Amino acid sequence: MDIMDYLSLLSFNTVTVAIVVVLLILLVSRSLQWPANLPPGPTGYPIIGCLPMLKNRNLLDVFRELRGKYGDVFCLKIGPKYTVVINGSKALKEAFVKHADDFSDRPGGYITEVILKNKGFGGSSGERWKRTRTFSLSTLRDFGFGRRSLESRLQEEVTAYVDAIEKLNGKPHDLKDLTVQAISNNICSITFGNRYEYSDEKFKRLISLFADNFRLVATAGAVMNYPWVRFLPGDVFNIKQIINNFDKIMAFVTGHIEEHRSSLDENSPRDFIDAFLVEQQKHGMEDPVFDDMNLTVVVMALFTAGTDTTATMIRWAILYLIHNKPIQDKLRQEILTVVGTSRLPSLADKPAMPYYEAFITEVLRMGNIAPLAVPHGAKKDIHFRGMMIPNGSMIIPLLDSVMTDSEMFENPYKFEPERFLGKDGQLNGKEKNVIAFSLGRRVCLGESLARMELFLFLTSLLQRFEFLPESPDKLPSFDSTLGLVRASKDYSCRAVKLS
Ligand code: HEM
Repeated sequence: MDIMDYLSLLSFNTVTVAIVVVLLILLVSRSLQWPANLPPGPTGYPIIGCLPMLKNRNLLDVFRELRGKYGDVFCLKIGPKYTVVINGSKALKEAFVKHADDFSDRPGGYITEVILKNKGFGGSSGERWKRTRTFSLSTLRDFGFGRRSLESRLQEEVTAYVDAIEKLNGKPHDLKDLTVQAISNNICSITFGNRYEYSDEKFKRLISLFADNFRLVATAGAVMNYPWVRFLPGDVFNIKQIINNFDKIMAFVTGHIEEHRSSLDENSPRDFIDAFLVEQQKHGMEDPVFDDMNLTVVVMALFTAGTDTTATMIRWAILYLIHNKPIQDKLRQEILTVVGTSRLPSLADKPAMPYYEAFITEVLRMGNIAPLAVPHGAKKDIHFRGMMIPNGSMIIPLLDSVMTDSEMFENPYKFEPERFLGKDGQLNGKEKNVIAFSLGRRVCLGESLARMELFLFLTSLLQRFEFLPESPDKLPSFDSTLGLVRASKDYSCRAVKLS
């Protein structure tokens, strides 16, 4: 190599290094830029943002601290994206109800855009979501959401559920699987038109695929903020596993859709899938709201959103019952007075059972299963309270900030159904402050079904059993895990049949 070659190589390397350094400086300085008027919050580090702050910490504790420091609306950067967290009843209502036009979209991202193809509820925004939601709500109402016609189907499931528990003969058992199966069967009845035996292998497989994805999606959240992580070797963020499970669930649902299509009577839809197919014939397959992909993703969304939520809430309820014998006795007294033991409780009994209503409201508050609701997203720059939430930000309605608000609920960490009752023993209106189903246009689509389920399942359980800890000295812990829902840790208990 002569001196000229050497010099040209040196200058090439120097230029390459210089370019890389400039690019790095640009990247770092860009990631440090904090647009004007952004809600206040910690600035974090270049590129990774506030990630280290969240590592190994309870996210709810971190958010409570940040609210104390920065106020009801704060912002933090997780990776390249801004996350804006809205706290407290006043700010939540102002954003999600008063400014619903701006705050009712979902964030984009790999899972919603590539896997869910912007379909269903978690993945859609704007006109497509509005039409999907309007159709789904009115169809579910036709099939009895919030009405008596669904009651007999739910009671059939309640009977199978309590019979299965009775067979355990009061021995210690974790009721998690049975509860998930029963609640999942309610969605099967509504969408497929049939329920499954708890021993059915196909049904067990479907439930385990859903449960697996429910768990995995929580860890795959990184892909929302760092889409490139999916190219890492192996399957560190479980994306391949999620897609694999998703394909299997899709095949199961598609099988049901084809069976329905071949036996469809347009004049007499049997269930949600039939009603959708009738509408599909009117609009044509090209309409993105009524194509098979949207039907599949909507059915999957009903399972995902409608199973682990209610089932987790029932498990929190049983845990609180085990810890609070006087409350359990009081509830049983109310059921014996109003219903007796010779028939199943019915929705018609509800108005005469205010203590149950207060109990369920307190379980919804303390169970706090969706403390972060489901993320919303800014589809344009949003101006709010003199601040600017940039296009592409994730927006979190922090329901936890209301559930644990000491101004609304005295001693917020104490389980106390009486806080919702007046001196006359009737509900005192404070139950309206419990916004477990969120608020605004995205409010839970299944709220009336969930409320029916909680009433019918919990009353029937208490009518037949006394709930006791696994052993007198082993009370289940209140520790929780925070994934897509905030769930109690697994626990066993004894359901002893009442004489
Ligand atoms: C105790 C039980 C339940 C709780 C606490 C709960 C809570 C929630 C919450 C907090 C959201 C997010 C709202 C938002 O984005 O701001 C939500 C959304 C949703 N829930 Fe529920 N839910 C429950 C049961 C159910 C059931 C039984 C169904 C089934 C049919 C269901 C279907 C949905 C759907 C489809 C959405 C998305 C709505 C949309 O994006 O338009 N949920 N739920």
